[in-house]
Order: sequence, then structure tokens, then C-alpha cells
Amino acid sequence: MKTQYYTASSLDGFIATEDDSLEWLFSLGNLEESSYPEFVAEVGALAMGSATYEWMVRNAAKVAAETGSPWPYTQPVWVFTSRALSAIEGADIRFVKGDVCQVHNDMRLAARAKNIWIVGGGDLAGQFYDAGLLDELIIQIGSVTLGKGKQLFPRRVLSPILRLSSVRQMGTGMVELRYEVGKQGGS
Ligand SMILES: NC(=O)c1ccc[n+]([C@@H]2O[C@H](COP(=O)([O-])OP(=O)(O)OC[C@H]3O[C@@H](n4cnc5c(N)ncnc54)[C@H](OP(=O)(O)O)[C@@H]3O)[C@@H](O)[C@H]2O)c1
Repeated sequence: MKTQYYTASSLDGFIATEDDSLEWLFSLGNLEESSYPEFVAEVGALAMGSATYEWMVRNAAKVAAETGSPWPYTQPVWVFTSRALSAIEGADIRFVKGDVCQVHNDMRLAARAKNIWIVGGGDLAGQFYDAGLLDELIIQIGSVTLGKGKQLFPRRVLSPILRLSSVRQMGTGMVELRYEVGKQGGS
């Protein structure tokens, strides 16, 4: 069981524009031809921040066109927010706030030995990293730059460095990089 931050980024390290647009991403590749189907089949629980959740709610039609359903997840999803947000009907969603450690424990139990997907944003993935709970980064880097926007991973990771475990080219528009996160004091 791994805790994985799986996301797409621009070449200059942004996962969305400043105003939360993902238009730049949709022309870059087809989800079904990426690693996504294999990846999501092994996921037992998901976590996302409120901006990511609200993007899904606002863009339900686009999500449905891309994935076949306005709320594509059958697994339980934990949404981090300090606000009172409305749940999507029929979706298994838990709104939580604060420390990621207790939530991670609940997710681990619910995932039943499958993986935990940290959907984003970057700071939420960073909170799991800070707590020593992040095992892997799987990043599809699109062949575009945005100049500014929502950061991929606003953390300084210097020692131990991330360990590159695979590189997969997807045409000319994307490359997927997988990194294992070394643990402090680990090998
Ligand atoms: N390129 C991709 O593949 C990809 C993947 C994922 C997301 N995205 C996009 O990237 C953008 C990410 O936005 P973002 O960087 O703002 O990140 P986000 O994690 O989606 O949302 C951040 C917000 O979540 C809430 N939050 C985070 N941690 C919390 C905690 N521990 N306790 C309580 N609340 C917490 C806070 O808002 P409140 O407390 O005010 O609710 C915070 O401002 C979105 O537009 C999303 O659609 C892109």
C-alpha cells in the first residue's frame, strides 16, 4: 500500500492557472491512453483540497465528458476544508480539516491494502510529505509552460533527494516521471 501524489503539471511546475483553469491540460493527451486506468484501479481512497473539489463541482460536465461520469470515483474521498461545503449526491465524501495524520489512518483502513491517492493541490500533498506519509510522486509533465499558477509541490526536498524510478514518454505532449520519496533516516 502506497500513498501517491498523482497529478499533471506544466513544465514550469504548475498544476492549474492562478484562476484554477485546467484548459491547458485537456489538449495534451487522452486519459485512457495514459497510466490513469491502471493507476486508479489500484486506488482505495482519495484526498483532495477544497479548490480541487470545487473545480470538480464547477466542471462536472467536462469531467463527465473526460471520464464518463460527473463524479468518477467509486472509492471514498476525503475533502480537506475549513468551510461547510455541500456534498455531491451519491458520492462517498467526507469533509475534514487540520492534521493529515489521523485522516491518513482513516484512509488507510478504508483503502483495505490498496493505495491512497493524494489528488492535490500541491500544498496538501506537501502536508502528507511533511508528516512522513508520502511514498511516491507520479507526475505527468505537459509540454507547456504557464508562467505562474498553482504550484505542483511547494516544498524544499533536498535530503534525501527524490529517487527517479521510471520515465515514460507519451508522444510529444507529455512525459510521466515517477519518484520514490526517501524517508528521513531511511535508505
Ligand atoms: N493538473 C492536475 O492534474 C491537477 C490535479 C489536482 C488539482 N488540480 C487543480 O489545481 C488547483 C489546486 O488548488 P490549490 O493549490 O488551491 O489546492 P487545494 O488543495 O485543492 O485547495 C486548497 C484549499 O484546501 C483547504 N485545505 C487544504 N489543507 C487543509 C487542511 N489541512 N485543513 C483544512 N482545509 C485545508 C483550504 O481551503 P478552505 O479551508 O478555505 O476550504 C485550502 O485553501 C485546483 O484548481 C485543482 O482543480 C490540478
